[in-house]
Amino acid sequence: MTGKPKRRGLFIDTLKGDVAPQPPMWLMRQAGRYLPEYKAIRATASSFIDFCYNPDLATEATLQPIRRFDFDAAILFSDILVVPDALGQTVRFAEGEGPRLSPLVSPEDCGFLNDEIDLERLAPVFETVRRVRAELSDDKTLIGFCGAPWTVATYMIAGRGTPDQRPARMFAYAHPEAFQRLIDRLVDASVRYLVAQFEAGVDCVQIFDSWAGVLPRAEFDSWCVAPAVEIVRRVRAIVPGAPIIGFPRGASTSLSEYATKTGVDGIGIDTAVDLGFAAKTVDRSVTIQGNLDPLVLINGGAALDAAVDRILEAADRRPHIFNLGHGILPETPIAHVEQLVRRVRGI
Ligand code: CP3
Repeated sequence: MTGKPKRRGLFIDTLKGDVAPQPPMWLMRQAGRYLPEYKAIRATASSFIDFCYNPDLATEATLQPIRRFDFDAAILFSDILVVPDALGQTVRFAEGEGPRLSPLVSPEDCGFLNDEIDLERLAPVFETVRRVRAELSDDKTLIGFCGAPWTVATYMIAGRGTPDQRPARMFAYAHPEAFQRLIDRLVDASVRYLVAQFEAGVDCVQIFDSWAGVLPRAEFDSWCVAPAVEIVRRVRAIVPGAPIIGFPRGASTSLSEYATKTGVDGIGIDTAVDLGFAAKTVDRSVTIQGNLDPLVLINGGAALDAAVDRILEAADRRPHIFNLGHGILPETPIAHVEQLVRRVRGI
């Protein structure tokens, strides 16, 4: 890819190592059900997946939190499970219950998947990227994303969200070769999907490994670190210098190793990690992102102010992107998000 203007701004500058007086900020899952304007447009779509594939609705949902809170980055409105959908697995979202996929019970079930991701099916997502980028000002960053292979595989195998990702863990122990083939296919799909997002106009991507924390060390290395190494390497081979944030939620003491081995520009820190510890242990060349507890944001008040101050202090003089340690929850009061923005920006 050549000839594209390189956009800068506080967010990308911070991701590339600059330290500003106030950190840039965005919130994971910032477009969503805590916003009345999201609920209003969500009610117009027949299903969540239709919503994701509707560029009018998805563009509007992506921009809503920027208009309301002036965050430094917008995140493409979509879902990590559009990748299994584009690999030919049936994906639907049961209202109020979460995702439902046709589960991969045995290695033979993987045979029904396409070898390659169907990027035509995802064309509406790329159209959303183009429209959002055209509407955002140059100083705002547009973040694209994918689920990490391990996290996506947990939903593909179980067919739904599970408390401990047991079906995928058992599948990987019982059928290591078939599981490796599934991970390889997801690596390939993720690379193509992320490159297509860059070509459509995203400035940066985040790889969400929401369930990295349940794996023992050897499996964490095989199913989380190794695939991320490969995705980063292959995306950057096509999009030189592509800004990438990794989010291996629950990686705990392996965080700094994940950052160094994968070569990500930024690393998402989850709520359970002491940000001061992350600031000291993660290589200085890697920007840290996080890690306010979504529950203290629901609480608001003095507890919220104190938690924000602790994070700002722990990340002092370190390239840092302010964020939550996991996604914002639907019951979060808007006024508390406003309080958070004022506190982080010192206004
Ligand atoms: O604002 C944003 O961050 C952009 C959009 C986004 C969504 N999902 C929209 C969504 C992003 C980045 C995701 C990522 C995602 N999706 C992850 C990784 C991050 C994480 O939270 O751990 C995962 C594991 C999923 C899978 C998924 N999607 C689940 C388990 C659910 C059901 C639970 C829930 O929150 O309802 C979804 C649905 C979903 N994805 C919604 C939204 C706004 C809610 C559905 C609706 O609005 O009807």
